[in-house]
Amino acid sequence: MKQDTKLVALGRAPVRAQGPVNLPVHRASTILSENLDGYVHRFDGDNRYDNVTYGATGTQNSRALAETVAAVEGGYRTVVTGSGLSAVTMAVSAVVGAGDHVLVPDSVYGPTRRFCTEVLSRYGVESSFYDPGAGKGVADAMRANTRLVYTEAPGSLTFEMQDVPAIAKCAHERGALVAMDNTWATPICFRPLEHGVDISIQAGTKYLAGHSDLVIGMITTATDTLFRRIADQVNAFGDVASPDDCFLALRGMRSLCVRLERQSASAMKVARWLESRPEVKRVLYPALESDPGHALWKRDFAGASSLFGLAMHTTDEAAVARMVNGLDLFRIGSSWGGYESLVAYNRMPIPRSVNPWTETPFLLRIHIGLENPDDLVADLAAGLDRLDGRA
Ligand SMILES: Cc1ncc(COP(=O)(O)O)c(C=O)c1O
Repeated sequence: MKQDTKLVALGRAPVRAQGPVNLPVHRASTILSENLDGYVHRFDGDNRYDNVTYGATGTQNSRALAETVAAVEGGYRTVVTGSGLSAVTMAVSAVVGAGDHVLVPDSVYGPTRRFCTEVLSRYGVESSFYDPGAGKGVADAMRANTRLVYTEAPGSLTFEMQDVPAIAKCAHERGALVAMDNTWATPICFRPLEHGVDISIQAGTKYLAGHSDLVIGMITTATDTLFRRIADQVNAFGDVASPDDCFLALRGMRSLCVRLERQSASAMKVARWLESRPEVKRVLYPALESDPGHALWKRDFAGASSLFGLAMHTTDEAAVARMVNGLDLFRIGSSWGGYESLVAYNRMPIPRSVNPWTETPFLLRIHIGLENPDDLVADLAAGLDRLDGRA
């Protein structure tokens, strides 16, 4: 079944006639047992993974969502979590223990970095950062106790691509697992498990849910062992996504392919236009031929989402504030993946250990939504005119 068909056909209400199309929301704490025997054995064996046993361990809504995500990821099974960040922290903490080392790309999402340096360290897990462009050179950064090599492509804020297959090969040769935060590409544009990754992480908050009105996370594994390990961890920590949010995330996924198709085409149009402007130093978007990560993106990815970075020539923050504050369609906000266009601003330095960003004193981040790209270009053109007080 093709990806767009899976997004429509899976996780639906089981009723074929005179019932709703969508699985209704099952709000639940207590799940009733049929009899005493069923109650006593409700968590036994595979029941805890397969059956709905208690609201905090998942409902029909999280199961339907998980089934759909697993199919689209081409994975074994998926665990749904309360946020994208908890998907990261649960996946990582499930597979490491005291004495282990985690290797993380320097361009990793900031809160993931903080989790490694400030939380894992308190539990005796070391972490260090590697050049996201290292490819098979990641071997040099691995230690005898490296248990997990983490990846994220493109990187947060600076959009570096990674050679995921080469990194996965190196990690596996040295007995380490590989996890990937694949939120930018979504499983529509890149399927991590097909490129050697063991654990694929999605902040479903972004493109999967797609409407900027909930937070949710998904962890998809290649194997049963990893699935159980992570499901147990999520359970033990009491991490749970609400049935309403699972319902909305699954509803959002129904239109994922068409949203991405449109948003990606618009992002390309806006990115190319920005590149042609004299005020713009560089557009950080692997789908552009000019991007240093373009060859890797072209080799491995089936498409691009609609989030990119923007490095400007001006160093005048007040001028950029004039530009951004006056935008009409682009709102100022930090999340992304919704139907609406956004702009975010990041003042340097951002936390980096290996590759500090030195090109510009700040970076803008642009998210392209479902508006007509001509209107978005006009909005940005007026914004650029405000840089030197022309408007
Ligand atoms: C790359 C990436 N991963 C994970 C997350 C965390 O997702 P959530 O906001 O759902 O915790 C974000 C959020 O911005 C992100 O950008």
